[in-house]
Amino acid sequence: MRVLVTGGTGYIGSHTVVELLQAGHQVVIIDNLSNSSHRVLERIEHICRKKVEFYEIDLRHPSALNDLMTRNKFDAVIHFAGLKAVGESVEKPLAYYENNVGGSLNLFQAMAQSGIKNLVFSSSATVYGDPDRVPIDEHAVLRPSNPYGRTKLMIEQILTDLHASDQQWNVILLRYFNPIGAHASGLIGEDPRDIPNNLLPYVAQVAGGRRAQLSVFGDDYETPDGTGVRDYIHVVDLALGHLRALEKITSDPGLLCCNLGTGTGYSVLEVVKTFSRICGITIPYTVVPRRAGDIATCYADPTYAQKTLGWVAERDLLSMCADAWRWQEQNPDGFGGNND
Ligand code: NAD
Ligand code: WQD
Repeated sequence: MRVLVTGGTGYIGSHTVVELLQAGHQVVIIDNLSNSSHRVLERIEHICRKKVEFYEIDLRHPSALNDLMTRNKFDAVIHFAGLKAVGESVEKPLAYYENNVGGSLNLFQAMAQSGIKNLVFSSSATVYGDPDRVPIDEHAVLRPSNPYGRTKLMIEQILTDLHASDQQWNVILLRYFNPIGAHASGLIGEDPRDIPNNLLPYVAQVAGGRRAQLSVFGDDYETPDGTGVRDYIHVVDLALGHLRALEKITSDPGLLCCNLGTGTGYSVLEVVKTFSRICGITIPYTVVPRRAGDIATCYADPTYAQKTLGWVAERDLLSMCADAWRWQEQNPDGFGGNND
């Protein structure tokens, strides 16, 4: 298939592009590089021994996008491009709505104009907010608790309306749980611009000596050890979920929505312990008050993805930590300084 990947130089996008190329698909990436580096492209090419076509395009500026879509015939689009920092979205809601919702609308309009109606969209478990029960299945109530999460839910709703208006739209909404880890080559991985918001990159940077210690946000949750429990999923397993979704779109069209998670939750302290074991370094931490907006426990019921996409996550927490550590050790400054 010839696949357009928006946000393809980002963390999840780059791992998905590698799996697409290795499976024999043709890939065109667009990204505005607001949270990634052009250096990712060389790394992808090195891993796959293939050239990758890239255009620096911002989804908020539709003319270049329309131009690309009319000059090319794509079989499908995988839409990763977006802003994803929860705290930043609370401070700058307009930027999030403009970028995520506005950018997505431009993309869907360009797709409609050029007659491309196959789409896989990066949604998030964040659309569930604080769940009534775990594991969380796709029928759970949707009540995101921050602007970032609301942008994801709005885009899901736009796509649901689009499919209802025209059944030729084939859409798969993928709700990711907590992606971590890196490609086994150590050549691509997560490269946060500033101080990491998320647990794994922070732990990796502490182990690598770039940060002094981890702050554990609360140990008084109703969980086995009091720290937050999440469904961490290896980014390569997640990437493979997109390949299964593309296969599903072409073999069995329609609209569907799937959780991509492992079905197992780990606490912050279990992650810290596993990471320490892998790297052989004690990770210093202090317990600080809970982070605003955090929930106690979140993990997926992944059975629907297994049933509909034939996909299951195969990599365990040890392998997630080992691959994240290899990436950190080989690239202590990520792709190089400021992601220029
Ligand atoms: P990322 O920031 O590494 O990748 C997103 C990419 O989109 C970046 O390369 C960025 O430069 C690009 N981008 C942003 N706005 C753009 C625009 N207007 N035009 C063109 N490119 C633009 O993030 P990621 O972790 O790879 O996440 C990919 C997608 O998955 C996002 O939509 C995110 O919301 C979603 N998601 C991520 C997580 C997670 O924990 N990483 C969890 C659930 C869902
Ligand atoms: C995991 C656990 C923290 C950092 C976020 C977004 C979500 C999704 C994935 C995009 C929690 C604890 C963390 C630290 C800590 N992204 N923690 N110290 O909050 O589950 O999900 O990323 O869609 O929308 O909200 O992930 O990695 O930030 O936190 O103790 O320095 O680690 O309290 O229990 P989260 P996270």
